[in-house]
Amino acid sequence: MAVLFTGIDQLLTFAGEKAARAGAAMRETGLVEDAAVLADKGLIVAAGPRAAVSRHPLAKKAKKVEARGVCLPGFVDSHTHAVFAEPRLKDFSMRTAGATYQEIKAAGGGIISSIGAVRRQPQAAMAEQLARRAELFLRCGTTTMEVKSGYGLSLDSELKMLRAVKAAARKTPLEMTPTLLAAHGVPPEFDGDSRKYLDYVTREILPKAVSEKLAVFVDIFCEKGYFTPEQTRAYLKEAARLGLKPKVHSEQLSNYGGTRAGAAAGAISADHADHVFAEDIAAMREAGTIAALLPASNYYLGLAKYPPAREIIEAGVPVALATDFNPGTCPCWNMQFVLSVACTHCAMTPEEALCAATVNGAWALGAGDRLGAVMPGMSADLAFFEAADYRELCYYFGDSQCRVTVKRGEVVFDRGQLKAGGKK
Ligand code: NIG
Ligand code: FE
Repeated sequence: MAVLFTGIDQLLTFAGEKAARAGAAMRETGLVEDAAVLADKGLIVAAGPRAAVSRHPLAKKAKKVEARGVCLPGFVDSHTHAVFAEPRLKDFSMRTAGATYQEIKAAGGGIISSIGAVRRQPQAAMAEQLARRAELFLRCGTTTMEVKSGYGLSLDSELKMLRAVKAAARKTPLEMTPTLLAAHGVPPEFDGDSRKYLDYVTREILPKAVSEKLAVFVDIFCEKGYFTPEQTRAYLKEAARLGLKPKVHSEQLSNYGGTRAGAAAGAISADHADHVFAEDIAAMREAGTIAALLPASNYYLGLAKYPPAREIIEAGVPVALATDFNPGTCPCWNMQFVLSVACTHCAMTPEEALCAATVNGAWALGAGDRLGAVMPGMSADLAFFEAADYRELCYYFGDSQCRVTVKRGEVVFDRGQLKAGGKK
């Protein structure tokens, strides 16, 4: 049955060309006041001024839902490490006592300290835990998220993580796109030999993940003490040859060359970008690589430096925003918090931040042709917020104003705000 979401005070459609938005186009929200959205069979059939949408032939018989407030395309969180067995509270205590990322790693914390519990956790428990976490994302208006492996760092446990993502996706309406991040760090059994470990990943893990269709994307952490730009480029090229789409963690802690290596390998996005210079930005522009910024992790790490969003946007590189939800550097699933940090610490405008969290997030997942905008033919993924003006979503912080979330035309979260009118 068709559903008509009506009475919307402000609808941001992000209607426009089917491409990631760059430069001034990031500020075009497609705002409609007193709006309605008509959905049928999981897709949007009409969206725009209430009066016009109500005249659509399907609108008469549609179930009417008084939605109110601000409506956006559901958030597309294009970068998460949402599969992990345990929080890293020891790291947290060390950090509050003044230790840096590198000092925590040297003391046995960091990424590698997550692998023990992940290796021990049965796949079913892992999937159950992820499905429960998915609820938290849905409550904040996220309708799609990318999920990385990367805390197993062995054939069995990396594949277990990816299989758990698949299994969890059957238990929740949240759409999840899996990424193989076996190149997240060097596990202890390889004794710091990143070349030997990457050979193992390339020979053993990559082909298996591909043949079992367990991942859409491949990712690597390019940073001093992890993997070099040369390794990054060669690994991503090989993964692309096998059919995975490359992504890269780059320029997070230093300017090291990962962004250029990723761009040279055709990366769909280069993520973090805290320490990018002009030549890295130019490489992204030339390769059509999206800059996925994760400023909630900078906030959590207490860093003074944030990604240079203005420089990146002004250079014409599309910017996406994501949570980076993970146990070490960003235990936050709320995209509304990311909007706040992007505006207050990266000088992004509310319009740019909202574009980056929706339509450009969808393009960072190669899914912008069906997600991230409220246009006929797109998936009916919507988030409704208790606000009179969309800028409030970037202005209030710390909580989520999301009241209702809709995935493929179905209400999947409702904080008791909806009034279903039924047939009229
Ligand atoms: O995006 N930098 C690498 N990966 C994560 C950190 C993951 C962790 O610390 O567990 C990130 O910040
Ligand atoms: Fe990350």
